[in-house]
Amino acid sequence: LPSLAIPMAARLGANLAEKSAHMPWYQGPSLLAHLETVAAHRGAETTGFRLPVQWVNRPNADFRGLSGNIVSGQVAVGDRLVVARTGQHSAVSRIVTADADLPAAGAGQAVTLVLANELDVARGDLLAGAADPPSVADQFAAQIVWLAQEPLVPGRTYLLQSGPQRVAASVTALKHRLDINDLSERPARELAMNEIGLANLTTAQGLAFDPYDSNRETGSFILIDRMSQATVGAGMIRFALRRATNIHRQAMDVGQAHRSTMKGHQPAVIWFTGLSGSGKSTIANAVESRLAAQGCHTYALDGDNIRHGLNRDLGFTAADRVENIRRIAEVARLMADAGLIVTCSFISPFRSEREMARDLIGAERFLEVFVDAPIDLCISRDPKGLYAKAKAGQLANFTGIDSPYEPPVAPDLAIASGQLAVADAAEAVIDALRARGIVA
Ligand code: ADX
Repeated sequence: LPSLAIPMAARLGANLAEKSAHMPWYQGPSLLAHLETVAAHRGAETTGFRLPVQWVNRPNADFRGLSGNIVSGQVAVGDRLVVARTGQHSAVSRIVTADADLPAAGAGQAVTLVLANELDVARGDLLAGAADPPSVADQFAAQIVWLAQEPLVPGRTYLLQSGPQRVAASVTALKHRLDINDLSERPARELAMNEIGLANLTTAQGLAFDPYDSNRETGSFILIDRMSQATVGAGMIRFALRRATNIHRQAMDVGQAHRSTMKGHQPAVIWFTGLSGSGKSTIANAVESRLAAQGCHTYALDGDNIRHGLNRDLGFTAADRVENIRRIAEVARLMADAGLIVTCSFISPFRSEREMARDLIGAERFLEVFVDAPIDLCISRDPKGLYAKAKAGQLANFTGIDSPYEPPVAPDLAIASGQLAVADAAEAVIDALRARGIVA
C-alpha cells in the first residue's frame, strides 16, 4: 500500500471526518474517508472445513439436514466429516441449498448438509473435515476484553457463547492484564471495564474450537452474565490446556441411588442465605436436629467453621467470597453424592454463585432458603459485635454496611426470621423437604 500524508488539525478536527475548507491546497481525502477505502486485513483462516450447526432441519421422517453457515474451508459431496464433540464420522451425501443441490460449497455459504448415516448431532455442534478436526477441551487459555461495569471475577460462572455453542464457564486464573500504555503484562486479580487480560477458563462441557490465530470464527466467544443476560466480555482462544485432556473422570460402581436406598432418604442441599446475624446457623441447627431425630444422615457446613479450615486463606473481598462459595458448593455436592442431607449456612451474598451452586448440585435436590431479616434487626442482634465494628470503620467490606447483599428473586423458601420462632422456621424447611419427597 503506498503511504499517504494527510494534513490534520486536531483542535478543529480539520480533515478528520470532513475535508477542511482551510487547506484548499490539499487535494486528498479526509482521514475517515481514506480509512473507509482501506481493505481491512482479514486474517486468513488456516483451518479446513468448519460448519457450526445452527439448526437440525427435520421436516419429516425422511429428511434430516444440518443447517448453518460454512465459516471456513470447502465441502464436497462424498467428503468425510467429523462431529467435533462426539468424534463420530460420516460422509456428506447431499449439499442442499434454497435453490438446488450443490456438488460443493465453501466459506460464506449457507447450506444444509445431509449425512450418509444418522449421527447424534444437535444445535451448537461443530462439523469439520475429518482430516483436520478442531480441538475439544474444557480448559483453555484466552485473551479477554472485559466490557461490563462490574469487574470480571475469577471463579464466577458466566455463560460462554461461541457461534451457536453455549456452555457455563468460569475463569480459573487470571495470568495478567495488558497495560495499554506500554503493552506490558501486569499481575491482576480482576479485570475492570475495557481491560484486556490473559486468563485460563474452564467450561462445564467440552467446547469445540480452533485457536483464534487459525480461525477467527471458531476461535472467538463472548461471555454473558447469567442473571442479566448482558454481554460482559469478549474473548479469543489461544490454546487448549493440556491438563484438561489428561484428567478423566473415574466411573465408580456404587452409585448415588444405591447409597440413598441404604440411607432411607434422598440426598439434598439446604442452602441458607441471608445477612450476618439473620439466623441462618440457628435455623440450620434446628433443622439438622429434627432430621437426625428421625434417622436422617446429615452434615452442617457453616461459614464460621469452614473459614477456619478449608477456606482459611480467603477473606471478604468479592473475589474471595466467590471462591468461598465455589468451594463450598463443590463440597456440598460431594456430600450430597455421598447421600447426606447437607445444610449450608453462608451469607452467600451474590445471586450468581447461588445459581452456580444450584446448577452444580442439581435443582431437584437444592433448596434455597432465604433467611430474611431486616438489616436493622441484624444490627440490633449483632451476636458477634461485628456490625458495631463495621459501623465504627474497624471492619471493611462488611455485608449490608459497605458490601452488597443480593436477596434471592425466587427462593424455594423465604423465612421472615424476625417474625417466626426458630422451631416454626425449622418446621417450614422440613415441610419443604417432605413436599419434594426427600424425607418421609
Ligand atoms: S460469605 O459472604 O463469603 O458467604 P461467610 O458466610 O462465609 O460469608 O462468612 C460470614 C461470617 O464471617 C459472618 O457471619 C461473620 O461472622 C464473619 N465476617 C467477618 N468479616 C466479615 C465481613 N467483612 N462481612 C461479612 N461477614 C464477616
